[in-house]
Amino acid sequence: MKKSRWGILGTAGIAQRQLIPSLHASEQCELVAVASRDGKKASVFAKENKIPVAYGSYEELLADPSIDIIYNPLPNHLHVEWTRKAVEAGKHVLCEKPLSLNVEDVKQLIELRNTSGKLIGEAYAMLHQGRLQSLKKLLASNKIGTLSGAHGNFYLYNNDPHDVRNAYEHGGGALWDIGVYPIAVGRWMFGEEPIEVSCVMAEHPDFKVDHHTTGILRFPSGGQMSFACGMSHAFDASMTFYTQSHRIEVNRAYFSNPKAQIIFEVFSGEQADTVKTYSFEASDQYQSECENFALASQGGTPFAGSLEHTLAQTKVMIALFKAAKSHKFERV
Ligand SMILES: NC(=O)c1ccc[n+]([C@@H]2O[C@H](COP(=O)([O-])OP(=O)(O)OC[C@H]3O[C@@H](n4cnc5c(N)ncnc54)[C@H](OP(=O)(O)O)[C@@H]3O)[C@@H](O)[C@H]2O)c1
Repeated sequence: MKKSRWGILGTAGIAQRQLIPSLHASEQCELVAVASRDGKKASVFAKENKIPVAYGSYEELLADPSIDIIYNPLPNHLHVEWTRKAVEAGKHVLCEKPLSLNVEDVKQLIELRNTSGKLIGEAYAMLHQGRLQSLKKLLASNKIGTLSGAHGNFYLYNNDPHDVRNAYEHGGGALWDIGVYPIAVGRWMFGEEPIEVSCVMAEHPDFKVDHHTTGILRFPSGGQMSFACGMSHAFDASMTFYTQSHRIEVNRAYFSNPKAQIIFEVFSGEQADTVKTYSFEASDQYQSECENFALASQGGTPFAGSLEHTLAQTKVMIALFKAAKSHKFERV
């Protein structure tokens, strides 16, 4: 495999915290350049993060012929626009979640991908997490029964009025920002798409985005999952899965910690009398995500965060917003 050359749009926190260290650690990827709307900001960020080239506009980054892959961690409302521009400039694009805030844009991106031959992927890093992949295999093996129920939480505290997550016009709110995680993991674990959903939503009094949302998804097999997310809460990122005989608890489900082993516990029996703990080798889900995307862009194994995955996820999201308004179950 040829080493892929990456460029980053914007000086995002997620890039600095996760993707940049992972790209530097990868032998299959090379981080070449970063762009900011502000040239000085780009230079400072590039120096701090050991990135060779800094551009003072996104357009200049896209015009750099040495770059193969663009990572797009801009605020949610800019994902589709800059993903499209990057593909039109001849780049593959790994875009942060949620890639799109509506179904029509995803369909148009699928068309663009098919005509351009460039790969477009959505960055759901936990789809590349070794621990969750092992859980998926364990559930699929039927060794611990059939998955029939799940619940996922993602709660945190964010009352910053300047954060794009608290701005409606930037695609903010708890459901778009963090509710997407338990929903995506649930769909993946069940291996099917929900038929119908219901949802309860409460807005933040000042920001006019949802700050507490709870929902239910019903799957064709009869399986059900619920999820809850909020941005005025103490932190919780746990998920629980149920078979006839086992309860599986996954703490910090959407994160991997490259420095330590991660554990999930399987409880079985009426009184949860047997507790089995599985440990996994430490792994960095962000590095795996970048390497998997780079490989797929060169014709290798298909990327887990495909646009088909995005389309199915976006349909569920739109149905949840509709259900929150109608106070009824809505078809997906
Ligand atoms: N996968 C994950 O684990 C994960 C975790 C956190 C966030 N995310 C996603 O990553 C994306 C970025 O999140 P973040 O918290 O890293 O964002 P952030 O720190 O606020 O960075 C966003 C960047 O976008 C650029 N930008 C362009 N137009 C902007 C505007 N109108 N307002 C604000 N910034 C603008 C800015 O760069 P310049 O000023 O340099 O141009 C800014 O640094 C979001 O879509 C979020 O959902 C993913």
